[in-house]
Amino acid sequence: MKPTDWKLVSEDLQKKLNRIPILCLSDSCRVGAIFIFVILPALYFAVLLLGQKNFDKVASPHNYFKEVTVSKNSFLERNSSVVCKKEEYVPLASRYLEEASVLVALNIRNGGHVLPHIATEILQLAKYFLPHQLFVSVLESGSTDTSGLCLHKLTEELNARNIRNRIIINSDIVRGRRDNRIMFLARIRNEVLEPLYSGNFSAKYVVFVNDVFLCASQIIRLLLHVVQGADMVCGLDYGKHLRFYDTWVMRDIHGGPVSASENCSIFHSKASMQLCENGKLVPVFSCWNGLVGMNAEVFSKSNIRFRSVERTGEDCPASECTLLCLDMWRNKHHRIYVDPQVKVAYDFTTFSTIFSHSNSILNKSIVNSIREEKLETFLPPKYYFCEPLHPYSTRDDPNRGRASWYPV
Ligand SMILES: *[C@@H]1O[C@H](CO)[C@@H](O)[C@H](O)[C@H]1NC(C)=O
Ligand SMILES: *[C@@H]1O[C@H](CO)[C@@H](O)[C@H](O)[C@H]1NC(C)=O
Ligand SMILES: *[C@@H]1O[C@H](CO)[C@@H](O)[C@H](O)[C@H]1NC(C)=O
Ligand SMILES: *[C@@H]1O[C@H](CO)[C@@H](O)[C@H](O)[C@H]1NC(C)=O
Repeated sequence: MKPTDWKLVSEDLQKKLNRIPILCLSDSCRVGAIFIFVILPALYFAVLLLGQKNFDKVASPHNYFKEVTVSKNSFLERNSSVVCKKEEYVPLASRYLEEASVLVALNIRNGGHVLPHIATEILQLAKYFLPHQLFVSVLESGSTDTSGLCLHKLTEELNARNIRNRIIINSDIVRGRRDNRIMFLARIRNEVLEPLYSGNFSAKYVVFVNDVFLCASQIIRLLLHVVQGADMVCGLDYGKHLRFYDTWVMRDIHGGPVSASENCSIFHSKASMQLCENGKLVPVFSCWNGLVGMNAEVFSKSNIRFRSVERTGEDCPASECTLLCLDMWRNKHHRIYVDPQVKVAYDFTTFSTIFSHSNSILNKSIVNSIREEKLETFLPPKYYFCEPLHPYSTRDDPNRGRASWYPV
């Protein structure tokens, strides 16, 4: 569920990205490798021959490459991301998370452009927890880019920190051409929760991370709401033109649709819009939005699983995430919220733009005000608005033509 036009990231930003110390090579750095081993020597001799001194352009990726391969553990001391670096560690948050055990779940395919960033932020989480409180579960399949390389590196780094993990690279769970897309997604989302189901890690909380640019502080913030009693809290995800992206999954607290807006008019009801504008939790019927914190009891106690709908006459063939929320409402997990201040994005340009306009995600007074939050419980709506996806659709677009209201 991501915009397809990653390539929109401008060359300028690619260069900026390359300068950000990262723990593995993104796609753009592959170009860098060719540069270093093929073009650079050629240029070197050319420059020698011409006796020119201006070496700046070729020196920078070279130094970068050397640093990454030589001092593989040093990236954490450096600032992972120009965007997240203003977020400082808040010891108070650690205190409220003392009893937490968190499973970080990630499904990824062709995430080479974003995995270095995600991996670094996952490692940043370790500032807030003791190693035994974290478990990182990743399932990668079907990638044709540097995803595997990044995940190998992440595994090493987690092991070096004694953080347990189950990182499956190049899994044979792949979606065949004719496979139902939602059935496949439900399967891989359940698979990544396996350490929870098998009892290998008895998580209290689960964090789902999509292929989004995010900061560790945003994850901490979502978790604090869940510690406070929420069943599920999502961020907001942004795509092209700084507009809200996940309109297919998100439904407001009345089960109604939301808009791809750049401001709080995402929500249609006055009450929800107001909460959003005040930066308060907005209750919703369903959400996903690229980053989710959940109470693990939804899976471990209520035994809910991701699922798909293949036959007509059952529930609406909605996203596995909408169906998860539907099943939560049916099992008395009535506290599903969006934190409108937690904004993630599918490309770096959008993410840095959003961040440059946003306030601090986490500080002492924010943590304290979350601790004072009184979470209301809402009654489920009778119906929710669903845009069914054709079971064998190969498109990402929901089939909006047949949208209608379905019983909860
Ligand atoms: C990382 O960021 C912090 C805060 O912005 C800054 O003080 C520090 O010098 C940076 N470290 C490096 C190695 O760039
Ligand atoms: C639990 O983890 C251990 C050690 O990583 C592994 O060997 C074992 O297969 C896991 N058990 C299950 C049921 O997944
Ligand atoms: C919010 O965004 C919508 C379009 O997405 C726009 O029409 C509206 O004027 C904006 N409202 C404010 C207060 O900026
Ligand atoms: C914390 O962040 C909020 C929102 O950005 C800001 O209004 C507040 O002044 C900050 N408080 C402290 C103590 O830094």
